[in-house]
Amino acid sequence: MSEAAKSTQRILLGVTGGIAAYKTAELVRLFVKAGKEVTVVMTESAAQFVGTATFQALSGKPVYTDLWDRRPENGMAHIDLTRNADVMLIAPASADFLARLVHGRSDDLLTTTVLARTIPLIVAPAMNLQMWENPATQRNIAQLRADQIEVFGPGNGEQACGEVGDGRMLEPEQIAAALDAWAQPKSLLGKRVLITAGPTQEAIDPVRVITNHSSGKMGYALAQACMEAGAQVTLVSGPTALATPFWLAPGSINRVNVTSAAQMLAAVEANVDEADIFIAVAAVADYRPASSAEQKIKKTDTNLSIQLEPTADILARIAKHPRKSADPKKAGTPPYCVGFAAESENVEQYGAEKRARKGIPMLIANHAQSTFGSEDNQATIIDERGAAGAVRLAKLNKSVLARALAREIASRQN
Ligand code: CTP
Repeated sequence: MSEAAKSTQRILLGVTGGIAAYKTAELVRLFVKAGKEVTVVMTESAAQFVGTATFQALSGKPVYTDLWDRRPENGMAHIDLTRNADVMLIAPASADFLARLVHGRSDDLLTTTVLARTIPLIVAPAMNLQMWENPATQRNIAQLRADQIEVFGPGNGEQACGEVGDGRMLEPEQIAAALDAWAQPKSLLGKRVLITAGPTQEAIDPVRVITNHSSGKMGYALAQACMEAGAQVTLVSGPTALATPFWLAPGSINRVNVTSAAQMLAAVEANVDEADIFIAVAAVADYRPASSAEQKIKKTDTNLSIQLEPTADILARIAKHPRKSADPKKAGTPPYCVGFAAESENVEQYGAEKRARKGIPMLIANHAQSTFGSEDNQATIIDERGAAGAVRLAKLNKSVLARALAREIASRQN
């Protein structure tokens, strides 16, 4: 388990022969936009699909294709290139190239560079679905994984040949996100994390609801950050417009959609026994209509009153929930519970009081002015040390903040 983030600042990007090579041009643009240095090495067949000038213009650096390239001072491009990079990524990696990697071939610049490297290698396969499913390719992929080579994808969908299935190269944004995720410290490796996110909707009648402005962004960012830190995540989500965070490893995120507070409680209770950590980010309605009208309520000239009743406090319940588990470390105790609260003033004091009231070890107080719907958030962490030991983090983009919070949770939970 590595605690330090891996650097992906200097990327050595190998391009092999496949139609997906045109998407790699966009990938280079994304990397450069993110401030990374990209050096491109192409195979001869890659150059049949995209010209070297394209990659040269996008990366702002010379492109290498030839083992006998004389530009490096020592005349050894295959050594120089990997010594001056943090990570090597091959996208697209064709079926033939994967086979050549498995056998340790070194008959062109890219294969020779792979063999001579001292840095991690990641491949993003791209091929027709039959080629991908072929036992030979599957054997090769298994061998590459056994050799500690990371495999990103492939994706599923329509292919250049018109067939539909597994084998497409991941989209450039997905590869960039996967690389970011791969680089994160695995501080939650092997942990199961249960997260609630988004608003809830409480029905007044079949067409009207009581809800709030929560976008779900903070909960989703935290789900992504926990997954990147190596956790298996169950995300219980109220209605949001957000896509499920992109997962790197199959099965590392499980999303359960709910609408009302009662459904959210049921989904949380159904998953809590396996959870090591419960993080309540959802803006759960505190009240719901005591009864929901079966038919749409008609307009009249008189006032309308709706009787509200309190909903269950999911977090407070889970904080007292004795888990049923065969694991003696879990059985009979609640998961490590983390609450969120929006406070507009006296953040440390109100947060510390709320943490104690809810009976939870850790509370993250959002600064209310900086949160709802925004891309940024400011948070203060309050644990058993109370208001005096509160840690105020800088105002950060929600995904950057989420990574910092995932690390804080991991360090307290362990
Ligand atoms: N929460 C919950 N179930 C509820 C209400 C809240 O699980 N029915 C969780 C939220 O997900 C969040 C925390 O409890 O983690 C928020 O606590 P709450 O007391 O509702 O805080 P505020 O919304 O800040 O409430 P108040 O208006 O009382 O300050």
